[in-house]
Amino acid sequence: MSDNNTDKVIIKTPEQIAGMRIAGKLAADVLVMLTEHVRAGVTTDTLDRLAYDYIVNTQQAIPACLNYLGFPRSICTSINHQVCHGIPGSKKLADGDIVNIDVTVIKDGYFGDTSMMFEIGKPTVRGNRICRIAQECLWIGIDLVKPGATLGDIGYAIQKHAESNHCSVVREYCGHGVGLAFHEEPHVMHYGRQGEGLVLTQGMTFTIEPMINLGKKDIKILPDGWTVVTRDRALSAQWEHTLAVTDTGVEILTLRPNEVRP
Ligand code: MF3
Ligand code: CO
Ligand code: CO
Repeated sequence: MSDNNTDKVIIKTPEQIAGMRIAGKLAADVLVMLTEHVRAGVTTDTLDRLAYDYIVNTQQAIPACLNYLGFPRSICTSINHQVCHGIPGSKKLADGDIVNIDVTVIKDGYFGDTSMMFEIGKPTVRGNRICRIAQECLWIGIDLVKPGATLGDIGYAIQKHAESNHCSVVREYCGHGVGLAFHEEPHVMHYGRQGEGLVLTQGMTFTIEPMINLGKKDIKILPDGWTVVTRDRALSAQWEHTLAVTDTGVEILTLRPNEVRP
C-alpha cells in the first residue's frame, strides 16, 4: 500500500546480498585499476577501453552501462561542469580538470554501482573544494543508513551540508535501489525533509550518489542526449556507493580497499 512505489522495493536475501558483495567489489576494483591511468594527456576513450577489457576479460563480468538505453560506452566520464552521464571520447584530460568516473558491473546477475572523483595534476581551489564537499555529502548520507531511518533523513542531511557550504544539489537525478536490476525502487533523493519518505529496513539495497554543484542547481542535457551539464557552467562533483541496510546499520558493498573516509 503506497502512492510512491515503496511497495516495489525488493528486500534482498542474505544470498542475494552475498552476490551483490561480489559485484560491488568488482565495480570498486575497476576504479582502483583505472586510478594510475587517470592523468593529464589520457583520453576518456582510453579509460573506457581499459575498463571494458578489465571487466570483460579479467573479471568475466558485464559492463552494465554499455548499450544501456543506448549508452555507447562501458563507463561514464563527467568532466568539470559535466554533472553525470558523460560519454567517453577523444578529448584528453588536462591539468586542473576534475572528472567523475562511474562504473557499474554485473556479475552472476547482480549489480554493483559506484563512482568517484579524480583531480588531474595540481588540484585547483574550486575543483578540490567541490570534490571534497560532494564526498562529504556521500558519507554524511552513508552514516545515517540504518533500520528505522528514513530516506528523508538522508536527503535532508545531504542538502543541508551542500547548501551550508554555498553549493547546490541537483534534483533531476537521484540514487536508486540496485541489485537485481540497474535501477530499482526506491528513488533516493539527495534533498528532503527529516522523517519523511521510506523507512529503511534490513535487506534494502540502494545507492547514494549526490551530484553537488559549485553554482546553481540547474542542469541541461547536451545534444548528444546523455551528457548532463550545469546551466551556469560551474563545476559539479559526484561520488557514489552501493549500500545494504544491515540489522544495525550499513554495509558499503563498493568500498575500495584503500578508501579513506573524508
Ligand atoms: N551509473 C549511473 C548511475 O549511477 C547510471 C549510468 S546509465 C548510463 O545510476 F547509461 F549513462 F550509463
Ligand atoms: Co547509480
Ligand atoms: Co553509477
